Amino acid sequence: MASTDLEAAFSTSSGPVHVRAPGRVNLIGEHIDYCGLSVFPMALRQGVRIAFQPRADRETRLVNRDPRFAPSTFPISERVPPGPDGDWSNYGRAAAQALAQRFPDLRGVDALVESDLPIAAGLSSSSALVVAMALAILHANGVSMAPLELMDLLARGERYVGTAGGGMDQSIILGAQAGCASRIDFHPLRLTPTTVPADWQFLVAWSLVHAEKSGAARQAYNERPRQADEARRLVAARLGLPEDTTYPALLAAAPVARLLELAGTTLSGVLSKRFRHVVTEGARVRQAEAAMARGDLAAFGLLLDASHQSLRDDYEVSHPDLDQLVALAREAGAVGARLTGAGFGGSIVALCPAGRAAEVMTALRERFYAPRGAAADVERYVFAAEPSGGAAVVRA
Ligand code: GLA
Repeated sequence: MASTDLEAAFSTSSGPVHVRAPGRVNLIGEHIDYCGLSVFPMALRQGVRIAFQPRADRETRLVNRDPRFAPSTFPISERVPPGPDGDWSNYGRAAAQALAQRFPDLRGVDALVESDLPIAAGLSSSSALVVAMALAILHANGVSMAPLELMDLLARGERYVGTAGGGMDQSIILGAQAGCASRIDFHPLRLTPTTVPADWQFLVAWSLVHAEKSGAARQAYNERPRQADEARRLVAARLGLPEDTTYPALLAAAPVARLLELAGTTLSGVLSKRFRHVVTEGARVRQAEAAMARGDLAAFGLLLDASHQSLRDDYEVSHPDLDQLVALAREAGAVGARLTGAGFGGSIVALCPAGRAAEVMTALRERFYAPRGAAADVERYVFAAEPSGGAAVVRA
């Protein structure tokens, strides 16, 4: 079905229901959710919106208003056949399969998708689509699920696309509170909001480098959880602890300095660096949350800088253009900046006093986007992040 057919069908019906799922920007705690360590993201105003109608059969039809993404049809079932590798519809298929495994008799939906999130920019456009589709299917079938259970189901369900991700994105997209960032703890899953001070402004800037987690960046991404896990096992063994000792348990068993010392003598150079990122980033999350709670802008900024260095040098997930954006934002008056999301391209997040945000954005436009011939679209690439609420079903 072409986009225009579905749009016409919706405009003549009694009015479809919409679901909106925001993107997210992770403030700190990068590449550690899959290690079971806490992270600290917030939801964005920008997101994915789906207008949908229930169907009487099990067919699910996805149409995207963006013509770059071809329409796709699949049956909702416990084994949804995948679309071509890297195809956008795989995120919708992931949601459908995860729900069908939990609720066997679901009917399909006709769904019209639109988004104002930059795609493959480290802002979780993919998980926003998974969450939006899941809410559309649940609503169309009159089924509800406890939010924490749904977050967990969709985090596992999204692995359908072949990425060994953690649970941060689905959790914040569903559980965010407007005006707040949230610390997310795993095992058990829990969200704890902290109000973002009114005089703080987080900025997001896209590097113009696509980081497609279900495409080229997948292998590089998936290698990180494997390495972090191997490092964990070896350090646990060295401490005489069981092989399945988790990162939180390791951190409870010994101080960070001791763990790093052991890692230095036990692990290969690469694994030792990966391990150092994970345990130091874990510590930065708590410090950042506390800094936000007491309104300590400078302290939060320093933690962002330290996180970027660690992601660049130890976890090796940065990109020269991200490093340049970080440096430019800092020179222009941001108190701290770092890559956000999985890296390998994507975006940075920078923190500045609200009064200096315009100045920093102008500097990025002149010194990063203009030389690349991208100044005309700069509003889409650099924006002030508004801490927004989580995904919701809304009537048209
Ligand atoms: C992706 C994954 C998340 C998380 C981040 C890196 O967004 O989906 O689970 O691992 O990368 O922090």
